[in-house]
Amino acid sequence: MIETIVAARDAALDQIAAANTLDEIVRMDQDVLGKRGSLTVLKTRLGTLATADDKKRAGQELNAAQRQVAGALTERRSQLQAADREQRVAAERLDLTEHVAARRRGHAHIVTQAWERLEDVFVGLGFTVAEGPEVETDWYNFEALNMPSSHPARNEFDTLFLDHAGAPAGTTVLRTHTSPVQIRAMLASGPPLYVVAPGRVFRRDTPDATHMPVFHQIEGLVIDRDINLGHLAGTIEAFTRAFFGPGFTSRLRPSYFPFTEPSGEFDIRTPSGEWLELGGCGMVHPNVLRAGGIDPETWSGFAFGFGVYRVAKERHRVDDLREMFTGNIRFAEQF
Ligand code: PHE
Repeated sequence: MIETIVAARDAALDQIAAANTLDEIVRMDQDVLGKRGSLTVLKTRLGTLATADDKKRAGQELNAAQRQVAGALTERRSQLQAADREQRVAAERLDLTEHVAARRRGHAHIVTQAWERLEDVFVGLGFTVAEGPEVETDWYNFEALNMPSSHPARNEFDTLFLDHAGAPAGTTVLRTHTSPVQIRAMLASGPPLYVVAPGRVFRRDTPDATHMPVFHQIEGLVIDRDINLGHLAGTIEAFTRAFFGPGFTSRLRPSYFPFTEPSGEFDIRTPSGEWLELGGCGMVHPNVLRAGGIDPETWSGFAFGFGVYRVAKERHRVDDLREMFTGNIRFAEQF
């Protein structure tokens, strides 16, 4: 009897050690310790033993064997569970270093592309690039540009004002155009000046297909001796051909801006004969030259300003300005 028990136990222990899945462990548990398990059934045979002593020894042996097998099952089960968990974690791990065979490269947004190309073209025409702050004082944004606080033209710019520590209310603004950079350039370097100033501007507009409260402009300013309207028209035309292509041309129309006199709007004509309004321009007003510390008796100049998005829109045929600001990858990827 004892030998039978030991043999059943050893067979069970061997099998348990060889088990490779949790399913096998469950089956082993039943096969050895279950109701009709190989060790369980031996219990019923204890009664067949001759002496009480034999029964006792065999019974003790059987109990020990059952405990051993149960212990082995528990141990092997936890080993397999650990391995199983490790495998699942490895399989489900998020690989942030994923290597993609064909590398995908991003590119600049079309507004940035237009901005950079505009700079390139103007640098090619002999201009330098200037910058000014997006938060401006009322003086640079309006006053120095010949728009005193009573000037009705101020109403055309739906200005966003900022609370600025120490400054009286209504004197700090988000610049409504890039024209304050004209004044900054004049004060910083003095004439002669050939500068362009691209940048972000702000107006209190409700977003629609052609308006955004934030957009981009590029300003141009030329100050030298004997600069006249012909230089302005010629520069706009040279820019139009260099930027859009030889099939394009430009024209000036009379208009009004407080900071230029005379003032104009300029349009470009596409090869298909369509006219598109691009921006404003004119000869720099003497009051503006004076605000910039320049003597209008000696120096004269012209200025122009237009929306960068109009240019990007023309090049890429974008119908809705809002697309340029949504960050929609399907829009951005097209260009
Ligand atoms: N600042 C004007 C605007 O935002 C454009 C402009 C610039 C007009 C320079 C004349 C000269 O509409």
